[in-house]
Amino acid sequence: MNAITVRGVTKNFGELSVLKGVNLDVQQGEIFTLLGANGAGKSTLINILTTLSLPNSGTVSIMGFDPRKDGNAVRKLISLNAQTATLDGEFSGAENLRLIAQLRGVRNERAEIAVLATRLNLTDFLHRKVKTYSGGMRRRLDIAMSLIGNPQIVFLDEPTTGWIPRTGWSFGR
Ligand SMILES: Nc1ncnc2c1ncn2[C@@H]1O[C@H](COP(=O)(O)OP(=O)(O)O)[C@@H](O)[C@H]1O
Ligand SMILES: [Mg+2]
Repeated sequence: MNAITVRGVTKNFGELSVLKGVNLDVQQGEIFTLLGANGAGKSTLINILTTLSLPNSGTVSIMGFDPRKDGNAVRKLISLNAQTATLDGEFSGAENLRLIAQLRGVRNERAEIAVLATRLNLTDFLHRKVKTYSGGMRRRLDIAMSLIGNPQIVFLDEPTTGWIPRTGWSFGR
């Protein structure tokens, strides 16, 4: 079974036709990258795949579920790292991570947070309030948030914004 199947998806905003019959297949275990100019419709498609928006026509399957009919089933399987971070600046990085871990029902919360913090190089500032973070620090924390609870499919919308490439960090599982 494909992780994601998209067939003939269209999306209009009034007169503006943004998606004009999108087809794609993403296998389980595959890293799939969507490239396009600003305004091409990447975020619009991600919104449809993550149950945040409905297409005007076409079909979508996420691990066999239709986001239109089985929104809850889809939301249990996925995580979304949206273009705007959803971090709470008044909480520390660790507190933000714990919040998501609890919402996702993660059992070994401490261990999982420690592993992700090491992997994304967050450990040194995890105790600080997020409002004191740089853009890149926020982005990395936001990515750690989207990996908590081992979701089957992770959607990352422009995940490298503000992130200066450096060797030694990895998202890999
Ligand atoms: N809610 C909306 N209402 C009206 N137009 C929208 C809405 N969301 C996106 N658009 C328009 O759809 C086009 C695609 O946007 P978007 O999917 O955000 O592009 P991308 O993520 O590829 O940069 C843009 O022209 C944008 O202005
Ligand atoms: Mg976008």
